[in-house]
Amino acid sequence: MTQHGWNKRTHYCGDLRAADAGREVVLNGWVQRRRDHGGLIFLDLRDRAGIAQVVFNPQISPEAHAAAEDIRGEFVLAVEGTVGRRPEVAVNPNLGTGEVEVTARSVQVVSTSKTPPFEVKDGVKVDESLRLRYRYLDLRRPEMAGNFVMRAAVSKAVRDFLDAEGFLEIETPMLTKSTPEGARDFVVPARLQPGHFFALPQSPQLFKQILMVAGFDRYYQIVRCFRDEDLRADRQPEFTQIDLEMSFIESEDIIGLMERMFTKVFAGALGVELELPFPRLTHKEAMSLYGTDRPDLRYGMAFLEFTDVFGSSGFELFKKVAQEGGVVRGFKVQGLTNPTRKQLEALVDKAKELGASGLVWMVGEEGNGLRSPISKFLGPAEMHPISERARFWPGEVLLLAAGSQAEVNELLAGLRAHCIEEFSPEPEECFAFAWVMDFPLFDWDEEEKRLKSNHHPFTSPDPESIPLLEEKPLEALSDSYDLVLNGVEIGGGSIRIHDRELQQRIFNLLGLDPEESREKFGFLLEAFEYGPPPHGGIAFGLDRLVMLMAGRATIRDTIAFPKTQTASDLMAGAPDTISAAQLKELRLRLS
Ligand code: AMO
Repeated sequence: MTQHGWNKRTHYCGDLRAADAGREVVLNGWVQRRRDHGGLIFLDLRDRAGIAQVVFNPQISPEAHAAAEDIRGEFVLAVEGTVGRRPEVAVNPNLGTGEVEVTARSVQVVSTSKTPPFEVKDGVKVDESLRLRYRYLDLRRPEMAGNFVMRAAVSKAVRDFLDAEGFLEIETPMLTKSTPEGARDFVVPARLQPGHFFALPQSPQLFKQILMVAGFDRYYQIVRCFRDEDLRADRQPEFTQIDLEMSFIESEDIIGLMERMFTKVFAGALGVELELPFPRLTHKEAMSLYGTDRPDLRYGMAFLEFTDVFGSSGFELFKKVAQEGGVVRGFKVQGLTNPTRKQLEALVDKAKELGASGLVWMVGEEGNGLRSPISKFLGPAEMHPISERARFWPGEVLLLAAGSQAEVNELLAGLRAHCIEEFSPEPEECFAFAWVMDFPLFDWDEEEKRLKSNHHPFTSPDPESIPLLEEKPLEALSDSYDLVLNGVEIGGGSIRIHDRELQQRIFNLLGLDPEESREKFGFLLEAFEYGPPPHGGIAFGLDRLVMLMAGRATIRDTIAFPKTQTASDLMAGAPDTISAAQLKELRLRLS
């Protein structure tokens, strides 16, 4: 009994097992369900660890049984009783505690509850806004609680690993200046300097580089980042990075270390053994094989090149594209054989919906033949290489598209994703990692008609690309690496520039003159005047990583208090207006 008069737990509900039979226990938890079986009353009592069945038998304790009559869902109880094995017919193999039940000797109602706005249990279909409004009830559901157990295990495994590797956890400011990740900033007015604003960090990028100048050599932080961007299932305005930076290293050092970190994290938090090394693709390979820089390697359907085949074919449409510098590419659909006409038409419709003017299909036939709407335009000179490259089995389907490289890649990537959804069975707990390397250093910003950094302006060019910088900047590659897991970008990083002259060349190409670059990143550039070591790093999205490990479809399920699509917190009611007095104090006027 506590000072406040309730009985303190001896065991978590979810931890009880057959071996505990005969034990006297006290459980503290929430009522998930109450069933009155005329005579016996059964309660499912839930805590963080799981659910235990409690039986109230009037023969054993008439008081406890009488008290149980008035108990409702989500009441908080302290139950004292004896663990016993359930009768054979009552064993529930789906529940960890399914072999046992607790026969109550006494029950205390520690706290009552209003009828909850939705049933607090797994698998219920509830509108997400209601779940977010009553998040504490949503988080009581075992499948949600489990995500946070996993998240804590991931963070711990990361900390243990990095600590053992000599990394120091160092905090960086939240009230700071705009960082170079390229999203919109969240800003905070500075009361003591009217008209001035802090920006919340989009990442600790500049500070972690300065920590390298400071000589810390190996830094990490599990840190909140803020980006005011359009939200998606895997994007939140505030999210958490596993962020790190190292000195006197090359990209191979970081990649090797991170692979080892992921084996520890997956073994520790999930009991899954990962195979090393992770596959690698250059950015160029990823784009030409999968049309995306974050390919989902759980599935095949790599693109095949047919431009050469159609350059002199009788199919005018493809021939013209091939002769005018475009491409003809396609992929063989996994999971679809002997398609019906309707299925083929649906694929063509899908291509049109994705913006294509058309799509050509081919179906393999017995004896190396091909069935296709364009087969009458093709002779052996085309048929032969197509069959050979596609390695058709009878009934298999090849989809072909023609156009500019970018158009075709985008269309086929969309179609590949569609085919995965339509025809591929969901693979059982499978983790397909891939490094995507050698990104272009710059992209062309069509709107502003200027070069933009693909990553950020401190990313080092690949040494072999340095001579290309001024002549062919769009062909220059960077010394960078992204980590992709099951088609989701979970991390990215690069070796940084530590040479002032090279940094200035990059700024010049980005159209930042010395004045502007000083204005934006002055403190980093100044630090670089005092002996910057060669350095590089990477950051991973923790929310995304846990989402994939826990098999969830959105990072909202791995963040305790996430925001909605319109970036609001439905439980706290944020954002909110502020008082006229606060505005005045900040010298702000709303227009
Ligand atoms: P980057 O911008 O690629 O790199 O971010 C690293 C990882 O953070 C995750 N992430 C997000 N997760 C949820 N919601 C978001 N809005 C969001 N934005 C990004 C992704 C991404 O891969 N400073 C560099 C890293 C470096 O160079 O060391 C950076 O922030 O998983």
